[in-house]
Amino acid sequence: MRLIFLGPPGSGKGTQAKLLAEKYGIPQVSTGDILRAAVRERTSLGKRAKGYMDQGELVPDPLVIALIEERLRVADCREGYILDGFPRTLAQAEALRDALEALNSRLDAVINVEVEQGELLRRLTGRRTCRACGAMFHTVFNPSKVAGKCDACGGELYQRSDDQEATIRERLKVYTEQTAPLAAFYNHGGLLLTIHGMGKIDTIFEEICRVLERRA
Ligand code: AP5
Ligand code: MG
Repeated sequence: MRLIFLGPPGSGKGTQAKLLAEKYGIPQVSTGDILRAAVRERTSLGKRAKGYMDQGELVPDPLVIALIEERLRVADCREGYILDGFPRTLAQAEALRDALEALNSRLDAVINVEVEQGELLRRLTGRRTCRACGAMFHTVFNPSKVAGKCDACGGELYQRSDDQEATIRERLKVYTEQTAPLAAFYNHGGLLLTIHGMGKIDTIFEEICRVLERRA
């Protein structure tokens, strides 16, 4: 199973990709998570990416394409993967298509999650993430049992530095301008499955599983 999650910031790509990765036993490959780890570890990629991420802009295509090509060569991707946050530009989508062709491999589906803008802002301003295990919570919609502590591992919960309202608005604008056109690109290829991303996390997950099974 080779899938892409397409959708604006806060649409639940990470939340749903994680659930699906567990169900299928394949990795969730999040370029955002990989880049944030690089920033934290102060690698040369992290140093180059940080400024763009803090501003809510996209990291330049060559850096992200090189990162994903390397990640997809790791053995755990042999049986499939779920791309969360990649591709985000036409150039990235074309690079992925070429890389897959070279490997004689192909995508199974692109899940396009649609959520209203006001809801995206509410979700992102309240998001909290575990520093230790990456589990995700929301101060109102999905609170941890003990404030500031992860239910899964007891780690410290933090707020992402790009989850401030001004940066969120810039990320949404970048999405509309640079990433939303990819829906047409994949629809043209017959891969697009559009999901209504409002409602409960479990209900949306069931709907994603249903459309994937119907397709198989
Ligand atoms: P990235 O980390 O990919 O961020 P994003 O696209 O902005 O998306 P988010 O992770 O914010 O949202 P999500 O859709 O995963 O939602 P989530 O499940 O967390 O990218 C960050 C930055 O890295 C970019 O700005 C860019 O600089 C760089 N970057 C990354 N990839 C790149 C690329 N390919 N090219 C160039 N640059 C790149 O959910 C959000 C919140 O809502 C959570 O609190 C969750 O608990 C809650 N929630 C989820 N579902 C529901 C629901 N159904 N109801 C209520 N609450 C919900
Ligand atoms: Mg995410």
